[in-house]
Amino acid sequence: MEQINLDISRVEQFISSEEIKALSLETLEAQGTLYKGDGQGNDYLGWLHLPKEISDQQLDDIEQAVAGLKEKTDILVVVGIGGSYLGARAVNDALVHNFSHLMKEQKAPHMLFAGQNIGEDYMHELLELLEEYSYSIVAISKSGTTTEPALAFRILKNHLEKKVGLEEARDRIVAVTDSSKGALRQLADEEGYRSYVIPDNVGGRFSVFTPVGLIPLAICGVNIKELVSGAKEMSQRCDPSVPFEENPAAVYAATRNALYRSGKKIELLVNYQNKLHYVSEWWKQLFGESEGKEGLGIFPAAVDNSTDLHSMGQYIQEGERTLFETVLSVEKTDHLVSIPGDPANLDQLNYLEGKNIDHVNKMAELGTILAHLDGGVPNIRISIPALNARWLGQLLYFFENACGISGYMLGVNPFNQPGVEAYKKNMFALLEKPGFEAETAQIKARL
Ligand code: PA5
Repeated sequence: MEQINLDISRVEQFISSEEIKALSLETLEAQGTLYKGDGQGNDYLGWLHLPKEISDQQLDDIEQAVAGLKEKTDILVVVGIGGSYLGARAVNDALVHNFSHLMKEQKAPHMLFAGQNIGEDYMHELLELLEEYSYSIVAISKSGTTTEPALAFRILKNHLEKKVGLEEARDRIVAVTDSSKGALRQLADEEGYRSYVIPDNVGGRFSVFTPVGLIPLAICGVNIKELVSGAKEMSQRCDPSVPFEENPAAVYAATRNALYRSGKKIELLVNYQNKLHYVSEWWKQLFGESEGKEGLGIFPAAVDNSTDLHSMGQYIQEGERTLFETVLSVEKTDHLVSIPGDPANLDQLNYLEGKNIDHVNKMAELGTILAHLDGGVPNIRISIPALNARWLGQLLYFFENACGISGYMLGVNPFNQPGVEAYKKNMFALLEKPGFEAETAQIKARL
């Protein structure tokens, strides 16, 4: 049967299966804490059963509600940062044509992003581009007060209103935010924007199956029913009723914690399909923000291979031995490109004549795994049948579930992010934000 598979057999030369099994009791306890909802951060567990709770009717309603907007939009600007941005980008980038922005025939609005950085040139160039296209905005912020997206939204709203007029701009702006709190909620209500609610009990990095992910993805033509049904299927595979050895989230959580305790402090998420780059970015936030606290946590890093084998490959092969790898391996590609013969054979590639590019990619993957094992890098492999909405839904839910278990195994609250506030206080003090006068004086004394 086609399914996402977790293979930990290449960890065994570093830690035995007995050592991993020895952690099963602890893993199941952490899983119990997650499902009973009696652990730290238990007011943020709305994501756990979310896929099962979303009805087809709700998804049809979303599709219908955004149909008109989709029709008149060439570019959808998704305004958000962190958990309010990475889920939509991960799924969209994994599924759209690599060069969709340059294709003459657009099948659906092209998704672009703002508010995920504060680059002035980025904003200038985006505005320059938006002058030339029909665009709409989805503004996403749970708090409604995060500086980066608030700033971007102010600028884009102003631009859109000038470009298409106040009434039309109101029709082209969708807000995804809290049900009652925050500046974005207030603005959406006052302006009469279409708006969707981020549930109180779902934190940003676990929100891809809420309107945070579903609204922009639906507008840009992603099959959100398939995405959610994939997540639902994976939530069944990760259910506590499934025995430890058969439960991919439990086994992944146990394995990475066993590796961490044996001194492997860095996990590299490795892909061999460049379209998965933002899945890795999403995963970095999920695990980094959930586990990196109280002086603990596996450092989540990522590489896109084979590109990064020519930059990071040396370190991975021979640098400090604190790494383990988790490889995302896509079994079937969407398209075949076969290698032609060449009578002169100057590049000596005729031995590959008639083979597909993906055959070479797969051999690069296998060769790299074996080389890294020889170099002391344990390997976890996650195989994904193909890149489509269903398997992505499965993959993202699998990681969310494993992250909840793993965080509790580590002994931290996986659902808060107190450390994210530190830079904001300094930034506001440096910007001389009203209310931060004392901090401004203190920080100026340090400069
Ligand atoms: O995971 C998180 O909670 C964060 O990454 C937030 O999503 C991010 O800081 C954006 O916050 P907000 O949605 O309130 O603008």
